[in-house]
Amino acid sequence: MIRIQVPATSANLGSGFDALGIALTMYNQVWMEESDTLEITSKDEVKIPTDESNLIFWVARRLYEECGHKLPGLKILQKNNIPMARGLGSSSACIVAGLLGANRMLGSPLSQSDLINLAAEIEGHPDNTTPAISGGLVASAIEGGRVYSVSVPVSEKIRFAVFIPPFELKTEKARAVLPKEYSREDAVYNLSRSALMTATLFSGKTENLRVAVQDRLHQPYRSGLINHYDQVFRISYELGSLGTYVSGAGPTIIAMINAADADDFRKYAVAHLKEKGIEGWRFEILNANSHGAEIVIE
Ligand code: HSE
Repeated sequence: MIRIQVPATSANLGSGFDALGIALTMYNQVWMEESDTLEITSKDEVKIPTDESNLIFWVARRLYEECGHKLPGLKILQKNNIPMARGLGSSSACIVAGLLGANRMLGSPLSQSDLINLAAEIEGHPDNTTPAISGGLVASAIEGGRVYSVSVPVSEKIRFAVFIPPFELKTEKARAVLPKEYSREDAVYNLSRSALMTATLFSGKTENLRVAVQDRLHQPYRSGLINHYDQVFRISYELGSLGTYVSGAGPTIIAMINAADADDFRKYAVAHLKEKGIEGWRFEILNANSHGAEIVIE
C-alpha cells in the first residue's frame, strides 16, 4: 500500500482572502491500493462516507479519467487528524490525498503543477490545496484555469496557536454572508495588508503582523457565525499574540506567536478558555510545514 500524508492548511491569514495559505504540522494519513472493489475504512472514530461519494475515491477516479484510465475500485484506509469543517483544509487534504495517490498508482503521469491545477479546479479556489501540495506559505492566483503560485518558507521565529471550536462551519455558509461588492478603499486596505503579510512571514519582521492580519473583506461578516469570537481574539492578544485571524472560512481562530513564548502561551490560553467558560475547544501550537504532502510506500 502507499501512504499519503497531507498537512492541514490555513487559508487567508486574515487579509489574503482567497489568495494566501499556509501548510501546518497537523496531518491526515491515507493508505491506498488499487482493487477490483471499493473498500473504505477508517483508523479512528471519525465518520466518513464508505461509498462512491467518498471524496478521496471520487478524486482518484477523476484523475484516472483525466489520464484516460478507468479506476475499477480502491482500498482506502483513512486517519483523519484534521477536524472537518473547521477552516483547516480537511476537504483539500482529501482532494490532495486522492490526487497524489492516484497519480502514483498510475506511475506519476502528472507533474506537481498539473496536480496543483487539478486540485484547485476541484476545490474551487487554490489557497488550501496549493500549500497542502507544496508546503510553506503560498501566494496563488488562478488565470486561464491555471494556478500561478509561489511557496516560501516561514520564519522559524513564528508559531501558530490554533483555537479549534467544537462546532462546524461549512464554507458555503461562511461565503454566503459575504457582500457581492466592496469599495475601492476596502480593496486597497486588504491588498496592502496581504502583501505585507507575505513579506513579513518570510522575513520574520513580526512587528508587522498585527497590521498585516487586518481584513475588511470577510472576517467582519463571518464573526457573527463564530461563537466566542471576540473573547478568543481578546484572550489571544492579552497573551501576546502577534496577529490573530480566522483560519480559512472559520470557525478556527489562529494566533501567530513568538516561538519562544509557545509554552507560556499554551499554559495560559488553556487556563483562560476554562476560566471564561469556553468549553470543548481543542487547542494546539503548530509550526509551518515546509514540504507539503508526502507519499510513503509501505
Ligand atoms: N478562502 C476561502 C474562504 C477558504 O475564505 O472562503 C475556505 O476554505
